Amino acid sequence: MKASKTLITSLLLSLGLVSHSAFASEFVYITTGQDMTTESLVHMKSNHPMEIVKEENGISLIKVHKDSLEDISHVAHEEHKRCGGYIFHNSLEEAQKEMNSTAIKAFAKEVVFADYSLDQEVTVQNLLPEVTEIKIRETILKLSSFKNRYYQSRTGVESQDWLYDLWKSFAPNRSDFTVEKYEHPSWMQPTVIATIKGKSDETIVIGGHGDSIAGFWGRANAKAPGADDNASGIATLTEVLRVLLNSNYKPEKTIQFMSYAAEEVGLRGSKEMARMYKGQNKNVIGVLQLDMTNYNGSSLDILLVNDFTNEAQNKFLGSLIDKYLPGVSWGYTKCGYACSDHASWTGEGFPASAPFEAEKRDMNGHIHTSRDTLDQSDGTADHAQKFAKLALAYALELDR
Ligand code: BES
Ligand code: ZN
Repeated sequence: MKASKTLITSLLLSLGLVSHSAFASEFVYITTGQDMTTESLVHMKSNHPMEIVKEENGISLIKVHKDSLEDISHVAHEEHKRCGGYIFHNSLEEAQKEMNSTAIKAFAKEVVFADYSLDQEVTVQNLLPEVTEIKIRETILKLSSFKNRYYQSRTGVESQDWLYDLWKSFAPNRSDFTVEKYEHPSWMQPTVIATIKGKSDETIVIGGHGDSIAGFWGRANAKAPGADDNASGIATLTEVLRVLLNSNYKPEKTIQFMSYAAEEVGLRGSKEMARMYKGQNKNVIGVLQLDMTNYNGSSLDILLVNDFTNEAQNKFLGSLIDKYLPGVSWGYTKCGYACSDHASWTGEGFPASAPFEAEKRDMNGHIHTSRDTLDQSDGTADHAQKFAKLALAYALELDR
């Protein structure tokens, strides 16, 4: 019955007696790797009505009859050793969206966005000694003294206000330096953005999440010091900002520092920022995410997250550690999912990297609890200091 219905349908279609739309519900859309269409699906065309709607960036969007899905699955499994083999979509619009976002992410991971040569040795070597452990420690202690920095709590707003005031105090009279609060429409906590304006519109973003979380019910009242997750990252990038402004560094490119709201509830703050930047066609040439920098849990010091990040920029970070951080060891680790704000930027097509404090399996076990305090890192910011040096070298080398 199934087969004969398909046969009659394709017969009528080929005779032009019915239009495709009359049988629209019989057809669905799939997206799959282009290797599938060129190697395997071509042979199925004779007895399975299908139409390649579009092929782009190695992905094929195909209109197929729903009765063919089982056979396509079989071919995908047998010939390409894939599990599902394709992604199913109910409508062309949905398929198109998936294809675009897959292509955008692949682009953000693979494309080289900047000149990664190391030629600012004098400037970098001059400024590296200015990075202090004590300043980072002070910021971690202050931020973790708020009861929590939850995206929907009074202290979640107050902690971002405190950071806003601190950043402003670094250079109250510089006309090329601004600090602003971006108010999100759906929750209380703002994202704080500091900008050192350069001569060009090329932009470097160094960010981390300012919020913290613990508990489940009544999270707005739960104790969530978030010293490591992520007062450490914010304190790290705050030190980079302080050093740049203190030395009166005048960048060529625009350098922005962001303390995102609402990361712990689904990367919501950074998603809004990245989406907005994409919509405004902002020329972001590099994004560095600092989330958890102060728990020295592995034998290697700095672990570069190698999923949802840009490969070329990750290599650049490795070369910066080798050149400017003697004695600091590094490697790669996988989050396995969109674990922090770098994924928001990658999702919108921007090149992002995320140097992390440990291998994923050696991570700080106290995050998202009332025990995420500085004591878990021996009461110092020694580990985070390495990340501040790396982030400073990153900004200076990328700037020129
Ligand atoms: N700082 C963590 C991400 C993280 C945790 C990285 C452990 C590496 C090891 C981040 O704040 C977080 O908690 N992310 C969530 C996911 C997010 C989409 C809500 C997580 O990992 O569960
Ligand atoms: Zn977290």
